[in-house]
Amino acid sequence: MCGIIGLCLRDKKALRLGEAIYRGLLRLEYRGYDSAGVAVVSDGKLVVLKGKGKLRDLEEKYSFTKLEGVTGIGHTRWATHGAPSDVNAHPHTDCGNVFAVVHNGVLENYLELKKALSARGHVFRSETDTEVVAHLIEEYYRETGDVYQAFRRAVAALKGAYALLMVTPLEPDKIFFARKDSPLVIGVGPGYNLVASDIPALLEHTRRIIVVRDGWVGYITPSSIHVEDASSGRLVNAADYVRIVEWDISDAEKEGYPHFMLKEIHEQPRALRSTLHGLMSDAMMGEAAEMLADADTVFVTGAGTSYHASEYFALISMRLAERPVIAFIASEYGSYVNAAGPRDVLVAVSQSGETMDTLKALRAFKKRGSRVISLTNAVDSAIARESDVAVYTRAGPEIGVAATKTFLTQTLALTWLAVETATRIGSLRGGEEMELLKELESTPKHVEESISTTSELVKKLAERIAGSKSMYYLSRGVGLPVAREGALKIKEIAYVHAEAYPAGESKHGPIALVEPSFPVVFTIPNDAELQRMLLGNIEEMRARGGVIVGVLPRGSELRERVDLAIEVPRAHWIATALTHTPPLQLLAYHVASLKGLDPDKPRNLAKTVTVE
Ligand code: F6R
Repeated sequence: MCGIIGLCLRDKKALRLGEAIYRGLLRLEYRGYDSAGVAVVSDGKLVVLKGKGKLRDLEEKYSFTKLEGVTGIGHTRWATHGAPSDVNAHPHTDCGNVFAVVHNGVLENYLELKKALSARGHVFRSETDTEVVAHLIEEYYRETGDVYQAFRRAVAALKGAYALLMVTPLEPDKIFFARKDSPLVIGVGPGYNLVASDIPALLEHTRRIIVVRDGWVGYITPSSIHVEDASSGRLVNAADYVRIVEWDISDAEKEGYPHFMLKEIHEQPRALRSTLHGLMSDAMMGEAAEMLADADTVFVTGAGTSYHASEYFALISMRLAERPVIAFIASEYGSYVNAAGPRDVLVAVSQSGETMDTLKALRAFKKRGSRVISLTNAVDSAIARESDVAVYTRAGPEIGVAATKTFLTQTLALTWLAVETATRIGSLRGGEEMELLKELESTPKHVEESISTTSELVKKLAERIAGSKSMYYLSRGVGLPVAREGALKIKEIAYVHAEAYPAGESKHGPIALVEPSFPVVFTIPNDAELQRMLLGNIEEMRARGGVIVGVLPRGSELRERVDLAIEVPRAHWIATALTHTPPLQLLAYHVASLKGLDPDKPRNLAKTVTVE
């Protein structure tokens, strides 16, 4: 959604305030990039600069980096209420321009609050939900004469999701914060403290972080952190929550690649090695497998790419463990939750661990008494914290808006979990467990090869496809979620309409669109039966003049039946997502580049979607 950051300094010389906020915002830009703004407290005054447009253009206009002072906040926006515009950009202030607020989330009762505040004479400048917060603080400050009291009372009046930061010249060395259902982390530095939506924005300054919990409200100063639990009023000892993150600043930089997406595609072998290492040493994996083996019904859910990983898990699990596993799209949980009970388990998959649709599904299943296993890439994220067993991928921060390395690490971890569960159920034949786990241990090597051997060919294919308006991605079995992922990638970053279909279903309607030169990409798993069935579907598409691309295991006989064969390592079928996805990611990336689009910042999309 949006990205927010705040920085409190003891000594102006320790860090340049404007520059540090601007650099933090650049790292948060993947969360939203239609407008941005900064507010600093400088020489007892509040300075607010903001506008519509990309951060770099706004820096040209406003020189955020030159802003001086000891306390400041910044925001990069993905519009929810009110179109991107200069007035709707954050920070928002009250009538007297004393309180400046930045917000990530959605306030459900803002219209009600706005009406009440307008009736009391408050004049609103923007169409956003956020502006009510500044006015509420102003209103309560008039009553109490105490900034923190006013902030707390304003927060208590809000319904919905928020990560909020506020600065005011009345308390020049404090940044006030509150969180509910939108991510927020505090960075603990020497002589300064920071607070931001996400860890990458803090890494340049500190690796000591505190994940702000839902319901916390408080403030940071350059040398202290004050936290309360808003509902009980209980003081929280922030020091108990400090953890050292393993991520490195290089994880949040492009390191010579033109885009984060390309860097993250190439980083996949490393991310997989690190995830494997985690899986082997994490007791949670065993606990999760026990829970699944013991469950009556297993459900698995996620949104977007994480849903594709969920579907992959369901297909692998059903084949290995011979039990039903129901995969559903997180926002559709309402149709599934009534079928769940205390003997059932939900697996919730989310790289960010903050996606509202997935969080809502998790909460609904918990209400029915079901237990929840989460798989996230963000330690202490909301979904991880609210689950019974939290398993983690270790992909490092993913900055490109399109998920790449997190998908591969998710499919690796989920396949591992499926194997462990089938072992406990007893559905594998003797020695098969070791054989399958060994296959999974080889996946970083396979992915390395898949990237290096297909890159050039995929670039050429991108040139052929760049002019296409529409394409199909077809497959069967475990290849289907991979086809869906390929279609999603090219749709979201290259704006090519792409549909993924079960290949067998394509003759029941979709084939009507196929005419000469219509591109059809087949994801062909290393499985003799699936290949036999896919052959018929390839022929059907060829007969209509479609340009047939096959992503297939090296040496497959089907290479002769397609117009362009993209050969990937010949690995076990359970590793299909790992071997076959990289060329599809690269195809989307190169088509986007050829069209002059920025693959890191696709229009209308945000990295973490914390609204329903
Ligand atoms: C696609 C993409 C999105 C996310 C979806 C869920 O490239 O990135 O579809 O997969 O928004 O996000 P998480 O995994 O954070 O729950």
